[in-house]
Amino acid sequence: MIDLAWSANNARLAAPRRYGKTSLLKATLAKAADEGWTTVYVDFFGALDMTDIASRIETAYAEQLTGRLRQWFTSLRRTLRPVARVGGGPVSLEVSTTEGAGNALTERLNLPLRLHERDGQRVLVAFDEFQDVLTAANADAIIRSQIQHHGTAASYIFAGSQVGMMEGLFADKRRAFYAQARPVALPPLSALDLGEFIAERFVVTGKEVGSALGPLLDTAAGHPQRAMLLAHELWTETPPGVVADEEVWAAALTNALAASREEAKTIWTHLSNAQRQVLVAVAKNRANLYSTAGGASRGGSRQRAAEALEAAGEITADTDTRTGYRVVDPLLAEWLRDGRSSQ
Ligand SMILES: Nc1ncnc2c1ncn2[C@@H]1O[C@H](COP(=O)(O)OP(=O)(O)OP(=O)(O)O)[C@@H](O)[C@H]1O
Ligand SMILES: [Mg+2]
Repeated sequence: MIDLAWSANNARLAAPRRYGKTSLLKATLAKAADEGWTTVYVDFFGALDMTDIASRIETAYAEQLTGRLRQWFTSLRRTLRPVARVGGGPVSLEVSTTEGAGNALTERLNLPLRLHERDGQRVLVAFDEFQDVLTAANADAIIRSQIQHHGTAASYIFAGSQVGMMEGLFADKRRAFYAQARPVALPPLSALDLGEFIAERFVVTGKEVGSALGPLLDTAAGHPQRAMLLAHELWTETPPGVVADEEVWAAALTNALAASREEAKTIWTHLSNAQRQVLVAVAKNRANLYSTAGGASRGGSRQRAAEALEAAGEITADTDTRTGYRVVDPLLAEWLRDGRSSQ
């Protein structure tokens, strides 16, 4: 991604929920900072409106610039059009018109230009949970209209956890960001890397992962957050100085499933009946996902259900399965296969 940034290209991280997008953004920024970039990470999660978006950007610069740049920004900040600040920051005037809010946002979006003018700094900006700029204020057109002029002053990486909305923002011809950032996929972690990492973590803490490693890797299926959760549960179940085995693994898996059950139930509760049927079929890797046994209209409604589940990030395309999809969260998949108990 840094290579993309160097060539003044923008990137977007396309990966399902909890697949390590934020972790990768932060690691990339840290690496870029080592290579001399000025870096800024902005999280738009829960943004309410244009003013909120503007003040999140401003706060990110205020908190993340270091050394002399920080001093410079402390002064510069006071020359910007005020936006309302929660908790009353240095300026607490409220911007009341849409135009005013748009201008305030424009000024903050163009901060990389100010940095670049100042001493030729190149800025790498990460916009996380970017889909919320759409939910909050349809601000994507304003953002695009400004950052398209940033040229070599700034490169952008976008990430978001709502798969469908991110696709809508970047892959829909009618949207301002259409084809504006190169998609970078985040594949599942390889069993080799994960296995080595987990085995090592056990050893340095006086335990051994033993024959529990195989079933752990199978269950985790390369899902970064789930792999870490499973490894943590296994580690907790393994007494010091002991080699874990299938029995310890079974206890760890039970704990992990218990820990994720409420979440699984919440997801299930919000699905339509067709979506539930598709989700279970995908979890069980059943053939004939779009079987028209119940009539052609059933096939069509299942197809729409699959598309909705994919947009929601619950399932993702996978050519190695009979359904063409897999359930993103392996613990949700276990719960679905395992009878969907409520406790
Ligand atoms: N490469 C990795 N190696 C080990 N653990 C990882 C890795 N990537 C992510 N994780 C673990 O997964 C968790 C979730 O990662 P992160 O928050 O970066 O994902 P995300 O894709 O941003 O999630 P969301 O879609 O909810 O925003 C982290 O807390 C970390 O424990
Ligand atoms: Mg994230």
